[in-house]
Amino acid sequence: MPSSPAFNVPDLIRKKRDGEEHSRAELEALVLGYTRGEVPDYQISAWLMAVYLKGMTPQETADLTAVMAASGDGLDLEGLPRTVDKHSTGGVGDKTSLILTPMLAALGLTVAKMSGRGLAHTGGTIDKLESFPGWTSELSEERFLAQARDIGLALVGQSKDLAPADGQLYALRDVTATVDCLPLIASSIMSKKLASGAHTVVLDVKVGAGAFMKTLDDGRGLARAMVDIGTRAGRQVRAVLTDMDTPLGHLAGNSLEVQEALATLRGEGPEDLTELCVALAVEALAAYGEDETQAEARAHVTLHDGSALAKFRAFVAAQGGDPALVDDPALLDVAPGRAEITAPRAGFVERIDALSVGRAVLALGGGRERKGEAIDHGVGVELVRKPGEAVAVGDVVLRLYHRDGRGLDTAQRLLADGLSLADTAPAPEQLILDRVF
Ligand code: URA
Repeated sequence: MPSSPAFNVPDLIRKKRDGEEHSRAELEALVLGYTRGEVPDYQISAWLMAVYLKGMTPQETADLTAVMAASGDGLDLEGLPRTVDKHSTGGVGDKTSLILTPMLAALGLTVAKMSGRGLAHTGGTIDKLESFPGWTSELSEERFLAQARDIGLALVGQSKDLAPADGQLYALRDVTATVDCLPLIASSIMSKKLASGAHTVVLDVKVGAGAFMKTLDDGRGLARAMVDIGTRAGRQVRAVLTDMDTPLGHLAGNSLEVQEALATLRGEGPEDLTELCVALAVEALAAYGEDETQAEARAHVTLHDGSALAKFRAFVAAQGGDPALVDDPALLDVAPGRAEITAPRAGFVERIDALSVGRAVLALGGGRERKGEAIDHGVGVELVRKPGEAVAVGDVVLRLYHRDGRGLDTAQRLLADGLSLADTAPAPEQLILDRVF
């Protein structure tokens, strides 16, 4: 029976099955043995299910993360000043990174970051940035580091060599019903953050219908686990828990989100999106010891004095995009087809389900079901009205941007199902639910 040289794998599976704690050496034997092809899928599958059922202690979770982080080539950002990374657990209409990262650069921090592509109903920063024709997420390490030093902002796609053990384990979790397990999610996310090298990591943990974590308690647990992993690894990690029942801002879909991000960088963004970007910037500055009140004021200034927009323009140009589109967002490709969802009766918008909006964008062609699929950057959904707003019968609540009717029927059905109206105004939704650090 295959087993790692120093450990007997069935013994390790039994240990976790019986709820015992692994040592770091045992986790190395399992995880690195697996990535080297010495321990087979069926043994790791059994072990993952034991972890799912019995959990892991904070020390085990931190050790598992460190083992996965060290399984490939990480980024060495030691030569860069005040490095910061940001991660969102995934939402709909979440264009925060497009705004926050140039804000941080304008605030004197360095963002040298790997970002992902969208999958299923959630979007990805790289896809959004590819709305700029010519913009590339592929830079040599030398160019990436030089750009981060010069502009304070460089962003590349996630390398296959970054925490490869996580990629392999995630694929196995996906087919063994072991994805939604707190220590496995926390270690998966944090292994990539530790390997990405930044000193400070700001986490946006989404909670609600459109998010991985459906309740605030689950979100807090995930945030606490990730902050704990980071602290044990000697990093500064701060988490903000934010509502993802409703999409952020008014627009979902790649080019549309870029347009909204550019408006926000000009100080003309929607309130919720602006509030979140400022809150995350405050966490980053606070991690470097800055007073929070002063940090908040400085973060707001970057959105009104053109400094964050200037960083974004320089960043787009440095990675091959046309900076003219930054100043004239109407030039971005937006699909020409329009359709609308109107209020069937008078009342108040009670709910616009984030998951339905994400799935509608996917149906229109703006997202991918499987890795590697091409997407249409121009399609999307506009939330003309947001929860809490009054509507008269026939008022437009949602607008669809489609290409030749592709996926339109499905998208319209999803959006109509995800919309609910009420007779009285619903209680205002809070965007920032908690902080953990
Ligand atoms: N995102 C990750 O990177 N890993 C998980 O396990 C879940 C979400």
